[in-house]
Amino acid sequence: MIRFTLRHGRRLALCAVLATLPLAASAQQAILEGERFHPQEGQHGMAATSHYLASKIARDVMQDGGNAVDAAVTAGFALAVTQPRSGNIGGGGFMLISDEKSDKVIAIDYREKAPAAAYETMFQNDQGEAVSELSRYTHNASGVPGTVAGLAMALEQYGTLSLAEALAPAIRLAEDGFEIPPRFANGLRDARERLSQWDASRAVFYKEDGSLYAAGETFRQPDLAATLKRIAAQGPREFYEGKTADLIAQEMEKHDGLMTAEDLAAYQPTIREPVHGTYRGYDVYAMSPPSSGGAHIVQMLNILEGYDIGGMGFNSARTIHVMSEAMKRAYADRAEYLGDTDFVDVPLEGITSKAYADELREQIDLGRATPSDTIAAGDPLPYESNETTHFSIADDNGLAVSNTYTLNFSYGSGIVVDGAGFLLNNEMDDFSAKPGTPNAYGLIGGEANKVEPNKRMLSSMTPTIVKKEGKNFLITGSPGGSRIITTTLQVVMNVIDHDMNVQSAVSVPRIHHQWLPDEIRIEEGISPDTIGLLEAMGHTVSQQAAMGAAQSVLIEDGHYYGGADPRRSTSSALGL
Ligand code: GLY
Repeated sequence: MIRFTLRHGRRLALCAVLATLPLAASAQQAILEGERFHPQEGQHGMAATSHYLASKIARDVMQDGGNAVDAAVTAGFALAVTQPRSGNIGGGGFMLISDEKSDKVIAIDYREKAPAAAYETMFQNDQGEAVSELSRYTHNASGVPGTVAGLAMALEQYGTLSLAEALAPAIRLAEDGFEIPPRFANGLRDARERLSQWDASRAVFYKEDGSLYAAGETFRQPDLAATLKRIAAQGPREFYEGKTADLIAQEMEKHDGLMTAEDLAAYQPTIREPVHGTYRGYDVYAMSPPSSGGAHIVQMLNILEGYDIGGMGFNSARTIHVMSEAMKRAYADRAEYLGDTDFVDVPLEGITSKAYADELREQIDLGRATPSDTIAAGDPLPYESNETTHFSIADDNGLAVSNTYTLNFSYGSGIVVDGAGFLLNNEMDDFSAKPGTPNAYGLIGGEANKVEPNKRMLSSMTPTIVKKEGKNFLITGSPGGSRIITTTLQVVMNVIDHDMNVQSAVSVPRIHHQWLPDEIRIEEGISPDTIGLLEAMGHTVSQQAAMGAAQSVLIEDGHYYGGADPRRSTSSALGL
């Protein structure tokens, strides 16, 4: 049995936690052998990512004098090589950076954009029905990628490394290769049919005869190495205006894709103000639109602040009941109001206000589930004018980075840009192909999130930084599609309400409700007694696969604690 020191000096039997989780046998084994899973403490910083090579690279950058942003950008590029199912340069995401010295938290929005030729009905058939195949598995499934511009912007604004220095480890990994972990081999095995449809994807991810790479073999990506080298030599605009842009435009032309060289040349990331809320005296910063994450994590926390969650107990029926009721109401509002604020008015102030939370809390019956079909979007105050991967990194200069980026599905659209060696996203599926029709995560979208030229599709990504008395405290976030917001919510609650150390906070079983379908989705590990009590209150409870992978960092009393999520066998938190 492995034991490790916890926050507040308590100790925990890790096996007891693991026993409650739906982990793959290989992950259990890795954890129990102490491999690749490092519940860590550091004195000077911490990097928690979904891949041990990226965590090691980030830790090395900080050990060599780089700051948390240098480490984050370097890790972001490394993940694009070591974890192509979600790490990417062909996708987009959001990065929150907290700088204690200036007391500022900023958000870099490098979400993909719809091409200029995109139109509202582009994913509908002649009968006006949404056709998911079109928004998921074609060249038109891709929004204009933002990752290269976004990571470069973070480095320019807060980093000390050059872009070439930040790209060097990724180039080395792509060129020299790395040893394939079981998760990587299994992912490519499972996605074989989808990826093999495309010549370029087959050539990158499978052997010449079409057979699979096995765990332990070396995986090299020469085309990707060449692309990264061009960006290192010529700067980020190479991706948008140089040979890489030409290769993307050619790929699109060859397959009737709408994205053009002009779309790529026009792409720019944006600095946004994160959503800010408070929870029991802590300051919570999370991603603003075009993500729904910040708005709804703050909305749910505001509702839940009115209950003595700590006293009600972790994952007790009463706690799960009020969490689910808060979640339903937030996701109903999401469907109605959220979209890209460059295009639509989002009543952000209303949604995140304490007064609106009080109103919603009053509707919650403590003994009875409210059926989702009786919940419509609420009426927040008027409009103001106006498979994903997460990593968390912090340093002892007062910088903290919370980054979530994605291709949308595992391996995105499955389409590799011929000659450039990287996968394109299928983020266009995050638009409402037809308002009212669910997307791949069962999320209903409204008019606010319809397809429009140059618009960013609504996201659930929720990179989050919690500050305590002005100091960075908890850095968290998660992949998981619609479950991202509720996963992140629970990490925050586990730390603040249930006083868990960060490793427990990310490891323990989670629940999720997204209004529709009207069910509480649970992981393994919720007791049958609790499920029975919830059902007696009128809830439908459905046990499904594990949710999210919330790589997190907690800073307390000058110590850095890492929480690597055991739901990913390659997760790793490394301190220095
Ligand atoms: N593609 C998942 C999200 O952005 O929410």
